[in-house]
Amino acid sequence: MSVLNGKKILLGVSGGIAAYKTASLVRLFIKAGAHVQVIMTPASKDFVTPLTLSTLSKNPVHSSFFNQDDEDAVWNNHVDLALWADLMLIAPATSNTLSKMTTGNSDNLLVATYLSAKCPVYFAPAMDLDMYKHPSVLSSFTALKSFGNIMIPAESGELASGLSGEGRMAEPENIIAFLEADLESKLPLKGKKILITAGPTYEAIDPVRFIGNHSSGKMGFDLANEAANLGAQVILIAGPTHYKAKNGLVEVINVVSAQDMYDACHEYFNDVDVAIAAAAVADYRPKVVALQKIKKAADEFSIELEKTKDILASLGAIKKNQFLIGFALETENEIENAKLKIQKKNLDLIVLNSLQDEGAGFKKETNKVTFIDQDFKIEPMELKSKESVAVDILNKVVLHFAKS
Ligand code: CTP
Repeated sequence: MSVLNGKKILLGVSGGIAAYKTASLVRLFIKAGAHVQVIMTPASKDFVTPLTLSTLSKNPVHSSFFNQDDEDAVWNNHVDLALWADLMLIAPATSNTLSKMTTGNSDNLLVATYLSAKCPVYFAPAMDLDMYKHPSVLSSFTALKSFGNIMIPAESGELASGLSGEGRMAEPENIIAFLEADLESKLPLKGKKILITAGPTYEAIDPVRFIGNHSSGKMGFDLANEAANLGAQVILIAGPTHYKAKNGLVEVINVVSAQDMYDACHEYFNDVDVAIAAAAVADYRPKVVALQKIKKAADEFSIELEKTKDILASLGAIKKNQFLIGFALETENEIENAKLKIQKKNLDLIVLNSLQDEGAGFKKETNKVTFIDQDFKIEPMELKSKESVAVDILNKVVLHFAKS
């Protein structure tokens, strides 16, 4: 999945012949799963029509400070547009637009929006070869880079003038590749490997029956997706669940029993930077698994159980530099029990779920958690969707690496 998936992209088109290529650019953004809004300078409309770009972006195209066709002359709020964007790309960026961006000459909607943007801004220059090398254009590049804007260099080839040289706007495919590589390199968990457990485990009684629990696996899958969105390499060890990883970069390892999960965790743990145990592992399993289906006979029947291995505690016992996060599901003396688990399992952070909190627990879309760290610092969180809880947990991971 592209890192552009779900991103809100504001494309500023200025007036050069390369503007016709923005039709392909918008298509590629949409294909990558991005949301696109387009701002055009008046001159750019001579090279590509607003209708083309609005059809491809599935959004109205903005071009002037107010809508001239509208009797009530509705103002196009450039500040709102700028704040909406996760990133702004000016392509093609002509020397005229670049120089306005450096001096703050906001006589069109594109430059006014650029001046209001707080998101990363990229620009892809396009001009003739001599213009591209002119000191005044070079000083625009230098100024914009010093503002923190990112230049997508022009390419060499045949130019509209008939001359051949450097100055062609980078091809749309190359602009997309540039943006993806740049965004990926800046993801906060890039280069980190995270192991996550999810779902229930099933402990066989006989070939057709098992002991299980109501865990859906949602919390673990949300954690895995979010970790992958932040650039981590994710190994998700999941008990039986109908969930599928939304982010194709998550490696899912399906297991059934607590022993399977234990074995899989130990296979990967030494190589990971972080482990998060979100699975609801069965604490006990039948001591003997019947080889044939147990037939109905006596009025009463009991199954002898034995303890499963505590996966999280076993990881805590061998951990080196791994940042280890566990969950605690409690119904009474929540904080005290969670603190004991931090010590017993040698954790860096515990995510406490209290079943006394409305909205928390199995088969719910929401969760209400309290974070407790190694120093017993307690941080209660609001009731949130499980996706948002996953974001909060991974923010703790990001913070840990930012500090270390
Ligand atoms: N856990 C585990 N292996 C087990 C049991 C639990 O890895 N055999 C992990 C869970 O994934 C969770 C944490 O340990 O991150 C705490 O689970 P919880 O059920 O709250 O606690 P238990 O240790 O099982 O203790 P108890 O059931 O007595 O509260």
